[in-house]
This record gives sequence, structure tokens and C-alpha cells, in this order.
Amino acid sequence: MRGLHLRELTLNNYRNYEQISIQFGGKKVLITGKNAQGKTNILEAIFLACTGRSHRTSKDYELIRFGQESCRVRVEAEKKTAQFSIDINISRKDKKKIKINGMTIQRMGQLMGHLNGVMFSPEDLKIVKEAPSERRRYMDMEISQIKPQYFYYLQQYNRVLIHRNNLLKQIKKNDELKKMLGIFDQQLAEAGAFIIQKRYEFISKLSNIAKEIHKKLSSDAEELTIRYKPSIRIRNYEDIRSIQEDFLAETERMYWEDIQRGNTGVGCHRDDISFELNGMDVRIFGSQGQQRTVALSLKLSDIELMYGETGEYPVLLLDDVMSELDEERQIKIFQELGDVQTFVTTADYRSIPSAELEKFEILVINEGKIKKKVNSL
Ligand SMILES: Nc1ncnc2c1ncn2[C@@H]1O[C@H](COP(=O)(O)OP(=O)(O)O)[C@@H](O)[C@H]1O
Ligand SMILES: [Mg+2]
Repeated sequence: MRGLHLRELTLNNYRNYEQISIQFGGKKVLITGKNAQGKTNILEAIFLACTGRSHRTSKDYELIRFGQESCRVRVEAEKKTAQFSIDINISRKDKKKIKINGMTIQRMGQLMGHLNGVMFSPEDLKIVKEAPSERRRYMDMEISQIKPQYFYYLQQYNRVLIHRNNLLKQIKKNDELKKMLGIFDQQLAEAGAFIIQKRYEFISKLSNIAKEIHKKLSSDAEELTIRYKPSIRIRNYEDIRSIQEDFLAETERMYWEDIQRGNTGVGCHRDDISFELNGMDVRIFGSQGQQRTVALSLKLSDIELMYGETGEYPVLLLDDVMSELDEERQIKIFQELGDVQTFVTTADYRSIPSAELEKFEILVINEGKIKKKVNSL
């Protein structure tokens, strides 16, 4: 494998793993074993090295093995241009510590863009089905990996938003404080405009790619359109200044309501994305099967988009999704994936098409230990 790939993963006191170290020989990796043995935990640890957080929980301490004080995930990886290592230390007492090539990073954002990864899991359906916050989280994760700067603006935005909301609550009691709102509004609009522009660009590119991929997956029957739905009307996405103006104007228009409510009614924290199949909103009118296929098209598009933007394919983490798909779709997906390093978990490896199986090295997991590692079954 010439592109981005993991060479070694080491876990210490991570979830149900006491200590393991796995070397990957460049093939695709199939992780199998009975339920609740630790298959997903391995993908979660890789995803943690990609993004600094788990795809399942925002509470880092849940990752620490029961009864232990801290855990560690270490990854050795390689891409076209360099070899690198990522080391993550999570402790019950201290802040999370991340090292890249042995150097401690000061801000989480510095991790972004080193090891890019795309996770497929049954929970992806939430992106299509559930509340807008799921879609924002998805969007933020993807864009942060492609554009680490985005992550800084997002953190900045969220910080200012908290201050602004606190101030709004105080203004209700003390009208004098009103004059301080202007500073926060300005800062919110600055970070907000950057975020809005990047979200727009991301969704536009994603929509183009997803249209093609979804067409293939649905055998030409459905046209998928993904749209960015900002909570503020934007006149011109190309012009960052005019986005700022739109942002400020809308914030000012909501001023009075914001004070009454004690929080900020419009902005990036209220944005959404819509998914349409042949013009119909999948979230509301789509069948379960259609929603599932849209989620899949979305993730497959992420891979292409990351490749287009960074020149490297991300590593792929397929958690328990293969058994949900018929063989034809599985084969289509594996074709789509080509030479990308792929980690697949399944309780039943016989659900993987046999012609594909020989491209995998296989790990059999049992109670947080590797029972067997074979080159193919
Ligand atoms: N913090 C933790 N410490 C110890 N064990 C944990 C922790 N969190 C989860 N587990 C265990 O991990 C197992 C689930 O692992 P998971 O990877 O989700 O299984 P699966 O093989 O079904 O994907 C369960 O046995 C659970 O008790
Ligand atoms: Mg699992």
C-alpha cells in the first residue's frame, strides 16, 4: 500500500484491552469474533487517533479500562510523504495528552489532518434521520479533517457563543450590559462567516460526488441532492465580508428575542443539511432502506472528497455494516474502495463475499485479546 496506512496499533488499558499491539501487513483487515469481545473498540481507537475523539461517546473517561487510571492509544502510520506516530493519553485526572512524532501538541486542532479516517457504522443512519445536531457534527468532523483551520474557527465560535449567551442572560437583569453585545456579535460573525463559507463549499462538492455514487448504488433509479441549509440567509457565499454582514444583520434583527430567551437564536449552531431523493426529503419521506443507502452514499463520497482535497485516501473503518447489505452492494462497495486501507468488523465473516475475503488479513478477537491472526481464512 502506497497511500495512507496504519502499520501498528498499540492499546493500553483501552476499553476491554489490557495491552495489545497489532502489526498490519498492508492488506485490508477483517476483525471478527463474537459479540461484545472488542471488535468495535479497535475501530474506535483508530478513529480516536484520527480525530481526537471517539465516534461513540464524548466522555473520554469511558475509554479507560474499568478500574484503571489512564489509557493509551498509539498508532504508527505512513503516508506518501512521511512516516509518523500518534500517541494519545487519557487519564481520569488530567487533560487528554496528544503527541505527534513524540512532540506534545498544544491544541487538539493540530491533530487534524494527520491520520484521516472515515467511519461507517450502523449509527450513520442518525445523520440522515435524526436532529440537525447530528448533521452538524458530521459536517464539522469531515471539514476539520480536510481543513484543520476550520476546527479552530469552530472552537472560537463555540467559545464566543457561550460568552454571548451568558451575557444575554445578564442583560435581562441589567440593561446597562447591552452595550457589550456588539463585541461578541462581531467575533461571532467573523468566525461564523468562515464556518458558513467552508460548510457551503464542502456540501457543494459533496453533493456533486454523492449524486454519482448514489446513482450507481441505486442502479440509476434515484438522484440524490445534498443541500446546505444555513440558519441565516446568505446573499453571496464567495464573499466572506458579505457573509459577515448577513450574519451581523440577522443577529441584530434577532436581538430582542435573544435577550428575552437568553440565548442566540441564529447562527452556525442552528445550521442543517438536507438530503433529497428525486426532490423528496429523505429524512421525512424516505424508507428505512433509502435512508440507509443515502448514509452509505454519503460516506463513500467523503472518501472521494478527502482524496480530492488532500491527495490521500483516508483509512476506512467499517463497523458491522457489511452484514446489513446484500451481496451485490457489498461487491459494489469493495470495488469502490480499491486500494484504500480498510478495517472491517463483523461477527460473521461468511457474510463477506468469498472473492473479497482473500484480500484480508484476519484478526479473531476474544475477550479483549487476539486469539488468532492469520493471513487469510
Ligand atoms: N471502559 C471499559 N473497560 C472495560 N471494558 C469495557 C469498557 N468499555 C466497554 N467495555 C467492554 O467492551 C466490550 C464491548 O466491546 P465492543 O468492541 O463494542 O464489542 P464488539 O465486539 O461487539 O464490537 C464489552 O464487553 C464491554 O463490557
Ligand atoms: Mg461492535
